[in-house]
Amino acid sequence: MTEREPVGVIGVGWVGLVTAACFAELGHRVIARDILPEKVAALSRGETTIHEPGLEDLLRRNAERITFTTEMGELLDGARLLFVCVDTPPTYSGDADLSRVRAVVEELPEGSDHVLIMKSTVPAGTGESIRRDLPGLAYVSCPEFLKEGTAVEDFMHPDRVVVGADPGDEAAADAVAGLYEPLPGEILRTDVASAEMIKLASNAFLATKISFINEIANVCEEVGADVGEVARGMGLDQRIGSSFLRAGIGYGGSCFPKDVSALKMLAGNTGYHFQLLTAVIEVNELQKRRVVGKLEKHLGSLLGKRIALLGLAFKANTDDMREASSLVLAARLQGEGAEVVAYDPVAAGRAAELLESVEMADSAQAALDGADAAVIVTEWPEFAELDWKEAAGRMARPLLVDGRNFLDPAVVQAAGFEYEGIGRTVGAPSPAGG
Ligand code: UGA
Repeated sequence: MTEREPVGVIGVGWVGLVTAACFAELGHRVIARDILPEKVAALSRGETTIHEPGLEDLLRRNAERITFTTEMGELLDGARLLFVCVDTPPTYSGDADLSRVRAVVEELPEGSDHVLIMKSTVPAGTGESIRRDLPGLAYVSCPEFLKEGTAVEDFMHPDRVVVGADPGDEAAADAVAGLYEPLPGEILRTDVASAEMIKLASNAFLATKISFINEIANVCEEVGADVGEVARGMGLDQRIGSSFLRAGIGYGGSCFPKDVSALKMLAGNTGYHFQLLTAVIEVNELQKRRVVGKLEKHLGSLLGKRIALLGLAFKANTDDMREASSLVLAARLQGEGAEVVAYDPVAAGRAAELLESVEMADSAQAALDGADAAVIVTEWPEFAELDWKEAAGRMARPLLVDGRNFLDPAVVQAAGFEYEGIGRTVGAPSPAGG
């Protein structure tokens, strides 16, 4: 095999660590730098710092090809192609916080042959301003489209790879495109601003799809339709497509909430009012709260009621709690005077730090003990396997709000539950065992 060019990764969060592991798997030597010494120490010892299916295996298999360091100098000496993967969290104003990106840029030497490859999600215009500050440094925008929970798979089988470069940086863009050539998926070459917009627009569109189907679900409840059937029927139209039409309790995570807001603000900063995204955000916020009304419909006041939250992570197969709908829901339930108990198979540790007054149970069954209602917040596969008949017996009142339309209502009803989904018409419960 011809020698593959070393790759540098700056910031080993979700995107950075997956990028490092996957390029190592493709045969590259990788030098990955993070400013947190404890994270670098843990990764150097072979510990995986995040829960991401397949990642631990990749890191173990390619351990000798990856070096973790806190030293920028070591990174700059070892690699010419530098992927910036630091986070860009939202600021109070809703804009993206670029301070970590800026801190990285300040550490880069002027006039070197390094190529700065931006994987962090940044507002359109960021590349142009970095190029202004660091003339001579080659700059390529290469946004990441991986999803937590399937990040390794997404990296290895991308739908597309976007490589954005402006005039003068064509050679750098060729080098970046070359890194992805072994992978399937189209490589789209574009200018930097368009690449930046592709990332923001893609996330905003997917979030719009989710808010749209959530509103359809809410109307379905009024007219007695089933949103699952509606989504299936819509999705068969190839112009619409079937993905991202799962109604639920709203989108969360580190990306959609932040990127939708950042795009709205980016537009606003230029004087354009992006009305559609304003609605997408509002629908999502209200959707997280609808569970409260569903519980009240059955229980009346929630004061003193014990509510079990099954799942806390923003989606299954991750321990990420950023912008998880569970955070808003738990706070709203407590605001109504409910006692909240929760269980998550993977995210409980991270969640406990954020939900101090929520009781953490160490199994789903334990969470359900004596509860007046249960809410499926995250679609963890183990909840489908649960013995719901046994669960009904443990609860003070077998009431289930399925915030992900994850379970078969007939099965849960047969186990003795009152069932509420999102936008699902469910008939009266059949007699137990029937
Ligand atoms: C999202 C995008 O899907 C990735 O393409 C992108 O790279 C990433 O953001 C990013 O910008 O880094 P991610 O946040 O990991 O990925 O998770 P998704 O699977 O997209 O789910 C986001 C949220 O939407 C979750 O809370 C999920 O439960 C919710 N969702 C998703 C729905 O409520 N309904 C759906 O039909 C799909």
